[in-house]
Amino acid sequence: MIETRLVVQTGSPIGTISPRLYGHFAEHLGRCCYDGLWVGTQQTTIPTYGGFRKDVVDALKAMPVPLLRWPGGCYADHYHWRDGIGEPSQRVRRLGLSCGLTVEDDNALGTHEFIALCRLLGAEPYLAGNMGSGSPQELCDWVEYCNASLNTTLAAERAANGSKQPFGVTLWGVGNENWGCGGSYDAESYAREYRRYATMLRHVDTTIQMVACGHDDAWNQQFLQTNQRYLGMVDHFSIHRYWIEGGPERDFTEAQYYTLLAEAHATEDFVQRTAGYIRDSLGNSTHRVGIALDEWGVWHPEGRPWGPNNDLHREPITYEQAGTLRDALAAAIALEGFHHQCNVLTLANLAQIVNVLHAPVMTDGAAMWVTPTYYALQLHTPHLGASALPVEVTDSVSLPGGEKPISAVTGTASASHNGLVVTLINRHYDQPASITLHVPGSRQVVSANLLIGDSPRAINSAHHPDSVKLTPFNVGADGSELWRVELPPHSMATIQFA
Ligand code: AHR
Repeated sequence: MIETRLVVQTGSPIGTISPRLYGHFAEHLGRCCYDGLWVGTQQTTIPTYGGFRKDVVDALKAMPVPLLRWPGGCYADHYHWRDGIGEPSQRVRRLGLSCGLTVEDDNALGTHEFIALCRLLGAEPYLAGNMGSGSPQELCDWVEYCNASLNTTLAAERAANGSKQPFGVTLWGVGNENWGCGGSYDAESYAREYRRYATMLRHVDTTIQMVACGHDDAWNQQFLQTNQRYLGMVDHFSIHRYWIEGGPERDFTEAQYYTLLAEAHATEDFVQRTAGYIRDSLGNSTHRVGIALDEWGVWHPEGRPWGPNNDLHREPITYEQAGTLRDALAAAIALEGFHHQCNVLTLANLAQIVNVLHAPVMTDGAAMWVTPTYYALQLHTPHLGASALPVEVTDSVSLPGGEKPISAVTGTASASHNGLVVTLINRHYDQPASITLHVPGSRQVVSANLLIGDSPRAINSAHHPDSVKLTPFNVGADGSELWRVELPPHSMATIQFA
């Protein structure tokens, strides 16, 4: 049994936890958009909201989804937005290209449908533009089509297609992974090309926020150096982080369990390092460049033909994988880091929203179920928009292995007009934890919910949708402003205090 003590530092707020840190990513890849979100209006077996699966939309609304990035990913740098507007039966059929997949793409889910989905979900739309096979003019036209309120031909076309009102899309990605699938640029050429796009896009709409493509440390430093005098054109700088070292999706060893959690934990270091490069480049400028962790999550070897253990990949590659309780713990660990870095991290999108990679929601024909990661996200709902508070671990017990000591029990807290919320994780593989939690000012527990399964390998499925789920649990008073929390191994909990 781990005995530990955690103290919420109510006197030193870190910053506001933007709802944008709880964003999601929907790419036209595998069964994410088509089949997972969109089944269309021509079928009658699956209930929809205008073509979007009702069961999936309802589940996502309850998660929630404050921000949604679309249409890629690698798909974005082949995507021509005009293919996805107008009468659906007249839309061109193209090769749908992303991550080595080539499929028939009827463009049924286009800009208007995506905006309708965002409205159903209550999500802010975030569009990723094509810099690989597109042009500055094509992207300028997409911005004008979406956002212009003046009487232009593009605005009239939008109205004729059903929306007189502009869509008001603020976030625009200028390419995606342009070091690789988005054009195989080197950092310097991309930086110069970015500048050209950004200059032209700003002329079309001065209110948009533009997201530049980052990569690893070397690329990031080079981009920032090349564009040092032009950082006013960069609102967010995009980095991606996939965890790939944790061995098989389910049949992992204890050591691989810890490796994956350590990788998730290290996501914060990557954000911090990137923030340091941005700070150095900005110097005395008052302009802010936020970090957009545009794609994050676990990418198991069963779902990729590259990287460690890729001999385990399934044929054909579908980018689908089993989502275990271990993955949910990894997600919660990353979210702790997001809260710590909420002053520099301006948005983050879990990859991806349905069926693909670290998906919170899965479908199979008419069946739908949610993964443990869904519940991990749902447990964090009260933190959205609240003020992040540090949680100090005083008597810490470290996890086995790892390059640097990581506490077995960690927490994140936030305060809002609804009170104070603490989310705790017991990362230990097989040891329960008894935690003394000091929450200054707390008088009463309003709710306490635990995410637990009988093993870190536990999953939900179409046949067993409730193997891993949230359960209310008891938190005992342990003195003035002190609480006793018992957490089983590999579990997490959120406690709301008045
Ligand atoms: O999320 C799958 C792929 O991962 C995306 O298309 C790409 O941006 C990244 O490499």
